Amino acid sequence: MTETSKRYLGVLTVSMLMLSGCKSPPPDYRNPVSLPAYTQGDAAAGQEIYNDACAQCHTLNPGHNNKGPQLMNVYGAPAADLNDYAYSDALKNTHWVWDANRLDHYIADAMKALPDTKMLADPMPDAKERADVIAYLSTLRQEKPTTLNQ
Ligand code: HEC
Repeated sequence: MTETSKRYLGVLTVSMLMLSGCKSPPPDYRNPVSLPAYTQGDAAAGQEIYNDACAQCHTLNPGHNNKGPQLMNVYGAPAADLNDYAYSDALKNTHWVWDANRLDHYIADAMKALPDTKMLADPMPDAKERADVIAYLSTLRQEKPTTLNQ
């Protein structure tokens, strides 16, 4: 390969990287909500269940989505609210709000609650476990991180 074509390739690679960089949306964040915490479950137990059943697909860090969207401030928030995560059309079109009742049905069996959802998690048939997870989610509240500029 000649020097010129090497340089050309280098420039091409850099421009492609820059282009693809422009495509990913900036990190997004859910505003904190004012719903009181959900107390019909045990948040400490819920944290352990969350770590076992949810954390492999969800982080709790704004700007860091995994297979699923990060879940900070999700309790009481509108569904599919993050611009930096590619939600299913099914979830985007629900216009749901994640109150305890919605979360309960979705966590129990996401595919049943919303057949075209992207959330392929195991169903959670135990109502007490779901109440604990919801109690835990309701404690997750964070002001806008200063690193996110929106
Ligand atoms: C196998 C991966 C996976 C597991 C395990 C999983 N989720 Fe999800 N979750 C997803 C995906 C993917 C989506 C996006 C759904 C869509 O766009 O239809 C999602 C979406 C959600 C949403 C909607 C968030 C929003 O911004 O509207 C909530 C709430 C949620 N999950 C809670 C949970 C909880 C609680 C658990 C554990 C009990 C769990 N998930 C387990 C993959 C997973």
